Amino acid sequence: MFCKWKTSQNQYGNSMKRNFLLLFFLSVLLQINIYSQQSAAPERIILNLTENPSREIAVTWRTEQQFTNSEIQFAQSTSWIEFKNNVIKVPAIEENFMTDDGKAVYHYSAILKNLQPKTNYLYRVGHDSIWSEWNQFTTASNENIPFKFLFIGDPQNDIKEHCSRVFRQAYKTAPDAALLLFTGDLVTNTSDILWSEFFDAGGFIFRTIPSILTPGNHEHKLVKVDGKFQRSKILDPSWNVHFTLPENGPKEFKESSYYVDYQGVRFIILNSHYNVKEQAVWVEKVLQNNSNKWTVAAFHVPIYSMGSGRDSKVTREPLMPLFDKYGVDLVLTGHDHAYGRSKKIYGGKVVPDSSKGTVYVVSVSGPKMYALNPLYKDLMAKTAANVSLFQVIYVEKNQLKYQSFTADGNLFDTFFLTK
Ligand SMILES: [Fe+2]
Ligand SMILES: [Fe+2]
Repeated sequence: MFCKWKTSQNQYGNSMKRNFLLLFFLSVLLQINIYSQQSAAPERIILNLTENPSREIAVTWRTEQQFTNSEIQFAQSTSWIEFKNNVIKVPAIEENFMTDDGKAVYHYSAILKNLQPKTNYLYRVGHDSIWSEWNQFTTASNENIPFKFLFIGDPQNDIKEHCSRVFRQAYKTAPDAALLLFTGDLVTNTSDILWSEFFDAGGFIFRTIPSILTPGNHEHKLVKVDGKFQRSKILDPSWNVHFTLPENGPKEFKESSYYVDYQGVRFIILNSHYNVKEQAVWVEKVLQNNSNKWTVAAFHVPIYSMGSGRDSKVTREPLMPLFDKYGVDLVLTGHDHAYGRSKKIYGGKVVPDSSKGTVYVVSVSGPKMYALNPLYKDLMAKTAANVSLFQVIYVEKNQLKYQSFTADGNLFDTFFLTK
C-alpha cells in the first residue's frame, strides 16, 4: 500500500515537472516572439518640413531589425477607411546606424511628393505585415493664410521625466499648430537612450505635426583635446539619421542650416555651433531674395546671452547687422537655460515699437536652469530663471502675435508685431 502510494506520488511529481518545463519553454518562445515583434516595429516616427511644404513632407523612422522592403503608404484622408483603396506606396531609403551602445539599427526615410496644398493626408510606415498606425497631417497652403507654430527651447535633460509634460502641454495649447520649431540641445548627449526619451516625450505629436529643428552644441561630437573633452565641429551622425531636413543651405551644413517658406514666413534655420561667419554669407543671399511678409531666424546660441557669465559674440557680430539691414522680425534661440525676450532692437539699441527692428528671444523647455545674466537687462522686456516654457506664435495678416506659456499652461509673456 505504502509502495503504491509512493509510486503514484513519483508519477505525479514527474508530470508536474514536465508541465512546468513545457510552460517555461512556451513562455520563453512567447517572450522571443514579443521581442522580435517589438524590434521589428517602426519607432521614432517623425514628420519634417521640406523646402516645399505645400507639396511635400518628409517622414523618418527606424527599426531594430533590418527590413529592405520598408515603405510609406499614404493617401488623401477620408472620413472612413475607404482611403485605403487609393494608397500610394513609396519605398524608403535605408541608413544603417551603430548606436553609442553598440547596437546595429536601421533608419528609414522618404519624402512624399506631389501633394495637394492645404489638404489632409494619412500615412503609415512599415514592412510586410508590421505597420505603424495611420497618422494624419495637413500640408501647408500655397497662399499666405494665417497659421500658428510652436517654438520650443532646449529640452536637453531629464527628457522623459520632465519634458514630456511640456511637449504635451504645448500640444494642448495649440493642437492645430502648423509646425514645431526646436532650437537645439534636444538631448544633453547623443546616446541612444536619450534619443529614445526625446521621441517618447514627443509621441504622436511628432508623427502628426511636422518639425523643423536646428542642432545645439550638445548634438555635436565630443572629442578629447589635451586630455579634456570638448565639442567638435562634427555634427553627431545620429542627427542626420533621425531627421530628414532641407538641404538648401550651405554645403557643409547639410540638414542643420536651411530655410523654409511657410505661408508668408521665411524661416532661416542656422547651425550656430561653428563657422557662423561663413554661414552669414549664405544668410545674406537668403535675406536679399525674400518676398515673404515675415522673417524668423532660429538657431541655438543667442544674440544676447541670458545665462550668467556668457556673451555670444559668435552669433551677434556676423548676424545682427544682417538682421538690421534686411528687417528680420524675430530671432528665436536657446542655449542659455533661462528666458529673455528683448524689446525691439535696431543697431544694438532699443527702438520704438513702430520702428524697424528685431525682437530677440531665448527660451528653455527642460529643467536645467542657469542664473540670469544682468549684461543685457536694459534691452530686455521680460527675463526669468527657473521656469520651463514653450511658445505659441500666431502669424496673422498684418500681425505676429507671440505668447510664451509655462510648463503648467499659464500665459507668461506676450507681445505683438504689426506690419
Ligand atoms: Fe543647452
Ligand atoms: Fe547649448
